[in-house]
This record gives sequence, structure tokens and C-alpha cells, in this order.
Amino acid sequence: MCGIVGIIGREPVASRLIEALKRLEYRGYDSAGVATLEEGHLARRRAEGKLRNLEARLNEQPLHGFVGIGHTRWATHGRPTENNAHPHATERLAVVHNGIIENFRELRDELTGRGHRFVSETDTEVVAHLVTDEMDKGKAPIAAVAAALPRLKGAFALAFVFNGAPDILIAARQGAPLAIGYGEGEMFLGSDALALAPFTDTITYLEDGDWAILSREGVEFRDAEGLVVERAKQKTQASAFLVDKGNHRHFMAKEIHEQPEVVGRTLAHYLDMSSGCVRLPFEMPFDAASLSRVTISACGTAYYAGLIGKYWIERFGRIPVEIDFASEFRYREAPLDAAGLMIVVSQSGETADTLASLRYAKSQGQKVLSVVNVPTSTIARESDAVALTLAGPEIGVASTKAFTCQLSVLACLAIAIGRARGVLSAEREQELVSQLIGVPGLMAEAIKREASIEQISYGLSKAKDVLYLGRGTSFPLALEGALKLKEISYIHAEGYAAGELKHGPIALIDESMPVIVIAPHDAVIEKTVSNMQEVAARGGRIILIGDDRTAAESAIDFHGHISMPPMPPDFAPIVYAVPAQMLAYHTAVAMGKDVDQPRNLAKSVTVE
Ligand code: F6R
Repeated sequence: MCGIVGIIGREPVASRLIEALKRLEYRGYDSAGVATLEEGHLARRRAEGKLRNLEARLNEQPLHGFVGIGHTRWATHGRPTENNAHPHATERLAVVHNGIIENFRELRDELTGRGHRFVSETDTEVVAHLVTDEMDKGKAPIAAVAAALPRLKGAFALAFVFNGAPDILIAARQGAPLAIGYGEGEMFLGSDALALAPFTDTITYLEDGDWAILSREGVEFRDAEGLVVERAKQKTQASAFLVDKGNHRHFMAKEIHEQPEVVGRTLAHYLDMSSGCVRLPFEMPFDAASLSRVTISACGTAYYAGLIGKYWIERFGRIPVEIDFASEFRYREAPLDAAGLMIVVSQSGETADTLASLRYAKSQGQKVLSVVNVPTSTIARESDAVALTLAGPEIGVASTKAFTCQLSVLACLAIAIGRARGVLSAEREQELVSQLIGVPGLMAEAIKREASIEQISYGLSKAKDVLYLGRGTSFPLALEGALKLKEISYIHAEGYAAGELKHGPIALIDESMPVIVIAPHDAVIEKTVSNMQEVAARGGRIILIGDDRTAAESAIDFHGHISMPPMPPDFAPIVYAVPAQMLAYHTAVAMGKDVDQPRNLAKSVTVE
């Protein structure tokens, strides 16, 4: 959620801290701050709101220190004010934190009793005082951190800089990601490798419970017991990706337009184009003959991808699939049998609830297959098998290309499960694979509808509430379309299974209610058309996302029609996601909203 960085170097670090924070701003943008040592003394600059406010502050009051830490915040404890912005500091140190300190109240009471004075509403400030308290007893920084860390409960990635100690930075990790980067005579730390990509392509990920002492010459790793340990270095691909918007106004627009390419790249990773078969680049972590059921767990957009995956795995793999929000699954003590398979889906690979689902499944003896976009993420590292989505870094807070790449991978997995279980014929596999091969081209066609989508979006931007309807695999897509619209335009939107309409939501229909119907020409199209008739009969303003045949056969006077290319229906959700995303995007742009950084949101949700 929050992003943290640190640099210990041989030249002023403030501008590079800002550069790294820009790459982490997707994690939160409620406030930002940096602290450096100015001739051995701590100096801080903080600002409410986006990073550009901090940049303006630094232009007025520059910092020149060679060692420093930085933070971009997604508020959990305390409002998004400058006073609550990190770094939090005492006379001895400054600290930045990503995560939640669950026992902060009891620690604060204890420390207040010993004379510490708290000035913010955050949980983080207690860390600053806890370490300070140890230093007040005479401990040096390393010993003080060693004494304080075991007292912290919750999830955290921390970085400390100490007054009068220009030669060290200390970092710690428990449940929130943290990477250490290697330079020439300088060292870095950051919440992910992307943040450090401008400075280094060599990193080490801390393991849970690890902490690290950075100097200009290198790093010493300690485990939770304080023992010195070795941690492997790795080369990262992150620097290969340019994090810019290209010719687009927003990252979200760029990422929508990239989809034919990244979906094509992802499919090519899983398909053998010449034989027309699925070829998984990893061993399936289960015995196909005894596989009893599949359980899927994920959050938000990744959950909706999983929901579509459920339809496909049940249809092509003929195996029962259960799916749950990770935040529910992790606490409901679901019985899992060892012959089952757990699939977790996550763009970031760091979502706290999804990671907890994975760990729960493993504790029950299940094998876990993860569908993730970040190969070095915690979820990828803890899974028995990893099915990568090759979407590249997704910066827009609203997920787009990661979603369609997740769908592409789940489609391939469903076919592979069907084949492995002997329930899908070779001919059907070839037919499905040839449909998948056509998907990137159809997505490119769908993108050409942008002008008409933009026009429809203008009308949508005047709505107060919007309904999305779909049947079969279009139902989860209706949920996803509604989520996209609400998260970036702040218009209230609901997705419904079209057949459920008459069981309540139809009461909402009137002339002011836009109803977006996602209706590829599939096996249930006649039923969907009947549901559209029910809406039309009540004066609802229907916007059809469907092909011309559906529009003609239904003979409805649509308020708007996004004319989709005809296509075989099995994998239509991957293609139909494009207009759903574009509708949300253009509606938000028409309303003047901050599309890439919608209010209250952050991209990587590493807290519960
Ligand atoms: C919505 C969105 C979120 C994420 C969710 C899971 O556009 O991006 O709903 O899908 O927070 O994140 P990951 O996929 O990183 O686990």
C-alpha cells in the first residue's frame, strides 16, 4: 500500500528518492515525505497529497544529504495530513513504514508512560519511539532496532536513518515486500524492484522476519533471531520496462491499448501455435487422475478474472470449482482436501489477503498454483507452481491489461486441466486454441470502437447510477465493468447476473438509469435478449455491448450500441473487457477525474 525507499550514497540523494517514489506512487498518494542527514543532522520535508506537492516543497527548501529515506502514503491510521505523513521522527531517528503495526496502542500507552510524546495519529510513530527508547537506554542503532523489532506485531516494511550516523541505513521486513538494491559504492532499498530500476538491476528480496544493515559498501542480512544470514542476489528485468505513458494521456489508456500485444505475448507463452495445443511451461502441481476440486481465491479485479476462470475450468476441465474473495476465504476455515488444487490470482503477487489464502491452503496440505504478474513477488515465491501473466508493469491503479492476461492464462489452464483429466478431446482443444489465437486480433478490432465508446461515455458521465448486466461468463465481466466505472469515475455502479434482474434490481429501472448489457452472441443470448426486453419495457436506457446480429435480432431501440466484431463465444470475455474498460476510462475523463490515481485507492494492497 504505502511505498518506501532509501538510499545511502556518495552524492545528494533527494532527487533520486523522488524518482524512486514516482515509481511507487501507484501504491498510495495521500501524502509523501523524505528525510536525509544534512551534515549529520536529520532534516525532513513532507507534504499532503500527491508527490508533486513534495517536489514543490523540496524546490523551495532543498535537501542535500547523502543518506535518506522516502515514503508515499496510503492512509490506514490517521487522516492524510502533513502531520501524519512519513517519515516519522524523534530527535534520534526517522522511519518510513509500509503496513500496519497492530499492537501500536499498547506500545504507545507504554511509551507515553515512559515520557515519550506522540504528535501524529499514525501507528508508525510508535516504531520511531520504540527504537528511540532503546537508544535512550544506551544502545547503538543496530542493537536498538534488534531489541525493538520483536515487539512489533503486524505487517511491516521499515527503513530507518539515524541522527549522527551517516554511514548506515537499516531496513526490516515482516509480511510486506522489501527489496535491497546494489550500486557502485552506494546501496538502495525499496518496496519493489521497479522503484530501484533506474539505479540498479541487482537486488535481494528480504524474507519475512529479515532485517538488513546497509552501508555504502554493501549489506548485512540478519534473520528474526538476529543471526547473520546469506540472501541470494538476483538480476531483475524491471529496468527493461520504461515506466512512461507513451503517447497516451494516462497510464490506464496506454495499458488498455497495450492489451492485444501483452495478451498475445501471454498466450504465446502457453500455446504451441504450430500444433494448436496448450503447452504449460511448468509442471502441474497435482495428480490429474485424483484431482478432486479446484478452489480459487483472489481480490477485486483478480477475483472477477478467477470467477470467469471458474466457468472455464468447470466447462473444459469438468471439475467442481469453488471461488471466494481472499478476505473471506482466509478466515472461514474452509475444509480443503489434499487432492484439491488452490489457484490464487494476483497482479502484484503481494495482496495480503490473497497471500494469507495461499498460506492457509498450504497449511491444509494443498498444492498452490498462482497466476501472477510479478515473478519475484511473495505469492510467486511461495507457490508450488507459477503461471505468469506477461502483462509487464501495470501502473494505472485500475487494473486492465493484468485482467485480460489473467483471463488468457486461466483459459489455457482450463484447457490443460481438461486434457490432463481426459475429459477434453484433442479436436476440441485445437478448436479452443485456434479461438484463443484469434483473441489479440479481436481485441485490436475492439479498440477501434474507441470513438463511439467515447461518445457514449459522455452521456454516461451524467448518470448517478449505472447497472451492468450479463449472463454466463459475461456476468463476472458485468461485475468488473461496474467496478471499473465506480473506482475511477465515482459513479455508483452495480453488476448483476441478467437473470437475477427480476428478483429485485428491476425496481431500480427508470428513464434515468443507464443499463449496460454485455451480450456476446453465445449459448444464452436469447435469454439475455429477453432480459433486455424487460428493461426496455420499463423505459431503461440500454447500452448494448454486442455484435450487429444481436442488435438486429433483438429489435430494441438501444440508447447506445458498441458494435463488437462477431466472434466465437468461448473466450469473448477477454475481448469484451476492452469496451467495458474504455467506457469507464472515457466516462472518468469526461468528468475530469484523476484516472490513474483515483481517490482513496492504492494498487498494491498489502494490508488487510
Ligand atoms: C481494481 C483493482 C483491484 C485489484 C485488487 C487485487 O481495478 O486493480 O481490485 O485487482 O486489489 O490486486 P492484485 O491483483 O495485485 O492481487
